[in-house]
Formats: sequence, C-alpha cells, structure tokens
Amino acid sequence: MADLKNKINKEKLPQHIAIIMDGNGRWAKKRGGIRIIGHRAGAKSVKNVAEASAELGVKYLTLYAFSTENWNRPKDEVSNLMELLIENLQKEIKTLLNNDISLNVIGDTSMLPDKVQKNLNKTIDETKHGKRMCLSLALSYSGRWDIIQACQTIAMKVKQKELNPEDIDQNMFVQYLSTMGMPDPELLIRTSGEKRISNYMIYQMAYTELYFTKTLWPDFSKNHLYKAILDFQTRERRFGKTSEQL
Ligand code: IPE
Ligand code: IPE
Ligand code: MG
Repeated sequence: MADLKNKINKEKLPQHIAIIMDGNGRWAKKRGGIRIIGHRAGAKSVKNVAEASAELGVKYLTLYAFSTENWNRPKDEVSNLMELLIENLQKEIKTLLNNDISLNVIGDTSMLPDKVQKNLNKTIDETKHGKRMCLSLALSYSGRWDIIQACQTIAMKVKQKELNPEDIDQNMFVQYLSTMGMPDPELLIRTSGEKRISNYMIYQMAYTELYFTKTLWPDFSKNHLYKAILDFQTRERRFGKTSEQL
C-alpha cells in the first residue's frame, strides 16, 4: 500500500534502524519444512527491507544475521547458513550497486569460514562507493563481544602509552566499538514475537526505541517496515528530560 509509505514523515526518519531478523525456523516449521527453508525465505525479506530503507532515505540499516551464540546451533544448520550467506552475497551484489548501498560487517569475522570472509571482503570492496545507505550485517556478533574487543584495544593503547585512562569517555569509547562512525540506532525492530535483545548492540541501544512484532522474518515486507517507522514516529523521545523541556 503506497499510502502507508506516504504517511511517513521524512523529517523524522530514523537515521539508523537495527533489526533482529527472527522466526525463520518457526516459519519453516509451520509449513512442514526444514529450518533452512525458512532461512532461504528470509533472504527475500532482507532484500525488500534494504531496498525500502534506501528508498526512504534511511542512512544506516544494521541486520542481526548471526550471533556469537548461534555458533552453538547444530553443525549442519551453521554450515547451511554460511553457504546461504555466500550465495546471497554473490547474487545480491547487483541489488546493492543498483541501489547505491555500501555493505559493511560488524562482528568477530575471524570466526567465519575463509570462503565467507573472502566473499564479504569482495562485496564490501565492490560496494564501497555506495552513498545512499550503509547496510551492515552483524555476523558472529554480540554486544558483549563488541564491548570487550573495544576494551582490549583501549587497554593495549594505554599499555603502549598512546592513551591515558583519563581520556576514556563516552565520545572516545564509541570510536572503538565495531559501529564506529555510525549514529546509535534510533529504532530496533524484532520480528517473531520474542521480546528480548539477545545480545545485540547492547551499548549502542541505551536509548533506542524498541518495536516488537509477531510477524515472522520471512513474512516481513516493505509495508511492515513502514508500519514500524510510523509507530516510531509517534514516540516521544525524552532522553531523561521532561516532556515540557523538549
Ligand atoms: C533467525 O531465525 C535467524 C538466525 C538466528 C540465524 P531463527 O533461526 O532463530 O528462527 P526461530 O527463532 O527458530 O523461529
Ligand atoms: C537472535 O536470534 C540472533 C539473530 C537474529 C541473528 P536468536 O533466535 O538466536 O535469539 P534467541 O536465542 O531466541 O534469543
Ligand atoms: Mg530465533
């Protein structure tokens, strides 16, 4: 429906949207299929949502695709997911280029199979001039990992006397997170009805507006995204102040 899209106030668009793409397994189960069928169907939603976000003028879209904890899933599901990732990186590079989107990755990529790393690096390089939107995939990512890797780098710099402990403040700390250079997400969407953060960008989401929907990720369409943004636009973001101060 074009009217949902038209209702969105372009002046109040979130600059950064984060999504926990959940419910692929349940989507497949409902259809009597194996879990990977759901993951395959979910790839279509990624494409729709990335296109819709870029068309609207969203600057950063960060998708939780594989968490640190997801390494504990059955081996064949993990390897199927890695294969699917390679397949889609190869297939969708055109979509990224056509939409002027640059690809980015956050997470402990050293954990990913070599072939995935190679395909990621290739796609990141080939799309690096994309100006309309930055699409980040959170892969082998967790918020705790992110905070700890930042602390390790900072501690190393202190040890080498490149930094003083007194220099550490919020502005400085965020330069060491994997989301360096991005604004904090204003809106988090989680599909599938679960109401939790599951170790996503826990530092960056201190003031993020949360939106939960029962829609399973493979069913999540452009209109679902518009609905979430419209809901976000009704919120009063106070950041600790009173309503009257805003
Ligand atoms: C999200 O769907 C995709 C990943 C976590 C990789 P799930 O695979 O978690 O689907 P459910 O939650 O089991 O339905
Ligand atoms: C969160 O989904 C991670 C991703 C969507 C990649 P999970 O399905 O892994 O989260 P839990 O286990 O339900 O919290
Ligand atoms: Mg899940």
